[in-house]
Amino acid sequence: MVSEVNANPASDQGEPKIRATDVSVFYGEKRAIDNVSIDIHQEHVTAFIGPSGCGKSTFLRTLNRMNDTIGSARVEGLIELDGEDIYRSGMDVVQLRARVGMVFQKPNPFPKSIYENIAYGPKIHGLAQGKAELDAIVERSLHRAGLWDEVKDRLQDSGTALSGGQQQRLCIARAIAVDPEVILMDEPCSALDPIATARIEELIDDLRGRYAIVIVTHSMQQAARVSQRTAFFHLGHLVEYGHTSDIFTNPREKRTQDYITGRYG
Ligand SMILES: Nc1ncnc2c1ncn2[C@@H]1O[C@H](COP(=O)(O)OP(=O)(O)O)[C@@H](O)[C@H]1O
Ligand SMILES: [Mg+2]
Repeated sequence: MVSEVNANPASDQGEPKIRATDVSVFYGEKRAIDNVSIDIHQEHVTAFIGPSGCGKSTFLRTLNRMNDTIGSARVEGLIELDGEDIYRSGMDVVQLRARVGMVFQKPNPFPKSIYENIAYGPKIHGLAQGKAELDAIVERSLHRAGLWDEVKDRLQDSGTALSGGQQQRLCIARAIAVDPEVILMDEPCSALDPIATARIEELIDDLRGRYAIVIVTHSMQQAARVSQRTAFFHLGHLVEYGHTSDIFTNPREKRTQDYITGRYG
């Protein structure tokens, strides 16, 4: 029963950063997400797990209105960021996507210099007064993304010339540069080798102190390593949500148990 899912496993958490209430998503007539309610907490990594096609990416995209870009997609229900309805009319969606940034499965740097990849967003959003301030934002963002030492002497090289793992950290730096509050990551390591993956996982752990992070992953090991909360989705339903340690050692639902023990997926 969806209504039995505990949307907020930590009653001691205070106000959630994001609260989704009774959210459904349709592609045309087809319902991809069915009545999902969940609280996403500040300074936490929240992992979305579940078999392919269960709606993880669809639900993730509701959190910064990326589904708006898909013609057939329709979202019902309420999603609040710091208590503000992000689907209300008059919401500035460009501003919203700066506050709730996104990192995709395949690293997608702009075909521009490393510097420009980071500087672009702050310029658009008017975050820097001049060159010195922009330089400082670029340096700070690359620092936070754990990339500065590797690129500081080649900021004018193309972002696309970096390795896959570096490109993904560049994309994280790009998201950071516009001062987000939440970072959404959709299988950010699935195109990376194990060493690059480990670096991203360490980075996610570092960033948690500053942002709310939501990560979709099909790796249960990754969810267990990087997250404090795990949400298990199945066929468009949020089956179970709780502390990651509880989900992996003591799930309440049989479907969660079956998934984490590899019975399907
Ligand atoms: N752009 C789209 N148009 C129509 N159907 C879609 C679209 N994106 C996803 N779907 C469908 O919605 C369901 C959930 O997909 P998705 O959110 O991508 O799942 P997951 O990320 O868990 O693999 C699937 O049945 C998928 O085929
Ligand atoms: Mg997906």
